[in-house]
Amino acid sequence: MDLKSNKNRLLIQMQYDASTNKYPMSFPLPMLLLNIKQDGDELVDLILECKDKNKAGKFESVDNLLNKINTSWDTYSGVIVNMGEYPADADRYEYFEYFLDNIKVPIFVMGTYPTINRERVLSFNSSLAESNISILETDFNITDVYIPDEYLESYPMVGGKKRAVMKITWGCPQHCKMCPVPALYNGKYKYCGVDVSVARVRDLYNRGVRFITFTDDNISSADKRFVKFMEKVKKENFKGLKLHSQEGFEVTAFSNEDFCRLLVETKWVTVKLGVENIKEDFLKKIGKYFFDFNSIDTAIKNIKKYNIKGVRFFFLIGLDETEEDVLENLKYFSKHHVELRTNIIRKYKNTELYDMNYTQKMTPATMRKLKSMAYAISWLSPYKVDMFDKNALDKFITENGYTTTTKNDKLVIKGRTKFGFQTNRFKTALKCMYESKYNTNDSIVTISDGGVEITNKIIGGFDSWV
Ligand SMILES: C[S@@+](CC[C@H](N)C(=O)[O-])C[C@H]1O[C@@H](n2cnc3c(N)ncnc32)[C@H](O)[C@@H]1O
Ligand code: SF4
Repeated sequence: MDLKSNKNRLLIQMQYDASTNKYPMSFPLPMLLLNIKQDGDELVDLILECKDKNKAGKFESVDNLLNKINTSWDTYSGVIVNMGEYPADADRYEYFEYFLDNIKVPIFVMGTYPTINRERVLSFNSSLAESNISILETDFNITDVYIPDEYLESYPMVGGKKRAVMKITWGCPQHCKMCPVPALYNGKYKYCGVDVSVARVRDLYNRGVRFITFTDDNISSADKRFVKFMEKVKKENFKGLKLHSQEGFEVTAFSNEDFCRLLVETKWVTVKLGVENIKEDFLKKIGKYFFDFNSIDTAIKNIKKYNIKGVRFFFLIGLDETEEDVLENLKYFSKHHVELRTNIIRKYKNTELYDMNYTQKMTPATMRKLKSMAYAISWLSPYKVDMFDKNALDKFITENGYTTTTKNDKLVIKGRTKFGFQTNRFKTALKCMYESKYNTNDSIVTISDGGVEITNKIIGGFDSWV
């Protein structure tokens, strides 16, 4: 790239579909590009542009951009395309690969996917004799990126609150074998000064920000410094400020009661924990930083003691565990009314897991079934019902104003049946509670405006799971 040229660069945030893009709370700002942006550079954010578009609309945006680059490439001193900032973005490459397939001029690419899977990214060639794709080493350190006001204004707000994105750490000191973070950061971890971090929060607050998303991969690993950070944030008394940790906290941090108390006092709205599994052998196989079940049990006790809200456990499935192993986990989580975020293990290049020998014992259909049960447990968590308890169905029905009748061999349940996009979770929860009560495993649940009908007819298969 001719950096001495008086032409400016075109910086592009590539579109990808990830859970972070769905919710205003975690909607990504183009932080990696803001980090390298110089005066005069043009920045196009396809994620923002495609926010409310369907798939065809998103591809149309990518096509328009391709057209713009292929025809006006020589008016820029360079074109840089960023593909994702977070580990999970590493396998959201549908639009990016389409872009690489159709770009006809030299470009630079950066971000998670080109860092994790260089070979594949470089394998895309246009009609040019030589590859037109070069990888720009990504500086993932966004701890002191200044977000200009126009970006604070134009990205989605959270419940009417102006939102910003921040990081106070860089990388992760742990070495979980399935996780792309160690590869992205070469196994390094850095923590910003506590006072500097608090000053950054203060600056954003003074510019009207009332919701901050921390995108750190492991914000609580330097636990004493993190507790200090929260103590100082608390002292500042930022009225109306809410905080959100997108990637979550270490399980072991929850054995520190100051940490638990301060999470509540400094108003973290969602609190995710990298629990993964309750079984020691699973945790050892993935090289998790803890493998003692007591760490999880203590975390749950302290979460209850300090009444920490918005808790979600990351739950990982799809190594070599059996269906029974996963059910044992689900029974424990259901008993504690935990909300789960279930991830089926993905094999990322350049992770230890990528070259590990193991045999997956569950079929994809079994994993989908277990994932839907985990969703049902999460849906039931506010009702404080354990769906594996034989009294769960009766408790749920009487405490929530439902009535039941029986018609031939059907149980008919009347009451609220619509829960928007969560209706399927309600349906699975009813199926599991019914099966716990009647000690069966092949019930069929049908939901209509008139109510819910459950039969115990054997139709079987996983089609009845949602
Ligand atoms: C940033 S970590 C959670 C917080 C903290 N760093 C910790 O591990 O305790 C986010 C989650 O991503 C999930 N994850 C990591 N590698 C994965 C992979 N290869 N496939 C699917 N999920 C993965 C794990 O469930 C992990 O808990
Ligand atoms: S602690 Fe979290 S971020 Fe760090 S390697 Fe493990 S899963 Fe990844």
